[in-house]
Amino acid sequence: MVLPNSEGTSAPRLYAHIVGWGMAVPEKILRNQDLEAIVETSDEWIRTRTGIRERRIAGERESTASLGLKAARKALDVADLFPSEIDLIIVATSTPENIFPSTASLIQNWLGASRAGAFDLSAACSGFVYGVDMAAQAIRSGSIKAALVIGAETMSRVLDWQDRGTCILFGDGAGAVVLKSSTVEGGVLSSVLRSDGSGGDLLGIPTVGSEDLDNPDFFTNGHKMHKMYMNGGEVFKFATRVIGESIEEALVKAGLTIEDLSLIVPHQANQRIIQAAARALKVDVDIFVVNLDRYGNTSAASIPIALCEAVQADRMRPNDYIAFTGFGGGLTWASMIVQWTDLKSAETRTGVLSNQRRRQISYWVVRWRSQLRRLSKSLNQFLQRINPRRGRIMRLRDKVDQL
Ligand code: ACO
Repeated sequence: MVLPNSEGTSAPRLYAHIVGWGMAVPEKILRNQDLEAIVETSDEWIRTRTGIRERRIAGERESTASLGLKAARKALDVADLFPSEIDLIIVATSTPENIFPSTASLIQNWLGASRAGAFDLSAACSGFVYGVDMAAQAIRSGSIKAALVIGAETMSRVLDWQDRGTCILFGDGAGAVVLKSSTVEGGVLSSVLRSDGSGGDLLGIPTVGSEDLDNPDFFTNGHKMHKMYMNGGEVFKFATRVIGESIEEALVKAGLTIEDLSLIVPHQANQRIIQAAARALKVDVDIFVVNLDRYGNTSAASIPIALCEAVQADRMRPNDYIAFTGFGGGLTWASMIVQWTDLKSAETRTGVLSNQRRRQISYWVVRWRSQLRRLSKSLNQFLQRINPRRGRIMRLRDKVDQL
């Protein structure tokens, strides 16, 4: 389809396609039985109430950004794009490395994505769908050509390990997708993004800005600072209501019906929530991708991780219509319809293997350049202290910065 552009001439319509995907989970597994030693619970209770059997827990040297980076590199390999070809990096997370700099900026630097803008997106477990929508809008408008959207979490670091109502549910991990502009029809077709802030007190993590000096409980409502709290029952009712409603709305926007859907990739919170959604939509529960038994609820990372596993299991065919649906803190919820397209066959690119090697070399160069820059900055500071005449030093720093 050809639409008139701002100059009145005709420009081909642009579509945002998912052309790369990748996931990363920590090696350490925490089984339900292991939790029995931490809080008063049982494998049987957790399995029957949630469907979860085990979850992954980040090691000491792993973080939201390091998991996100691994997933992003894999997604770039599948997309066969270089970091320098990425225009925008969005990291959906509730467990960022810092309030700022953003986790997205850390990943941008580690990847060497020198032409990309980067920011974190806070919409709890709906964050990944929000992020894909933001990236797809920017691509369809023609303002960018390629984007990396990452859902990454280290929930284990914000859990209250004395609260059995939450600590048994969550796990750590990351998933990423690359979106790319194309004139081939398909890709992200529609989205529904919603929020109901009046339910903000149902789940959250109080942090900077929560403290009232005269009354420390005022903003945190008595919840522990930096620790997650949740009213599970109320969130359960909210989730079962909004999944069906928002998927149906996204289908209408895309001009489709539930019969057209081949697969639903839902946020992985609870097997019973997914069963209730299947009943509400009057579909077989097998249409849902479910892997929460192995990873628990990884918040913003759960949808891209499930998507990766669905691709690996060969559950997607070209032109299939699939739905993403997420819900969580905010309250927020979001659904999206995507037409899965094999863009690689539509726009042939060659040399994938040698490009992979070139990407690995570029990551190595970026790492050393970053270390060198840091070193030169420390050296500069040191020399400044012992010699305030800075001419020669500045020249050295400029040379390193140009590398
Ligand atoms: N082990 C054993 N017993 C437990 C545990 C546990 N881990 N947790 C709670 N119980 C007990 C309760 O104390 C209660 O006991 P009581 O009847 O004597 O008072 C009983 O089990 C039932 O508790 P409920 O909270 O009613 O259990 P429910 O069936 O609702 O399941 C759960 C709780 C799993 C948390 C469920 O409500 C749920 O999954 N909610 C949705 C969570 C969710 O989807 N979150 C997504 C958003 S997350 C985000 O955005 C970051």
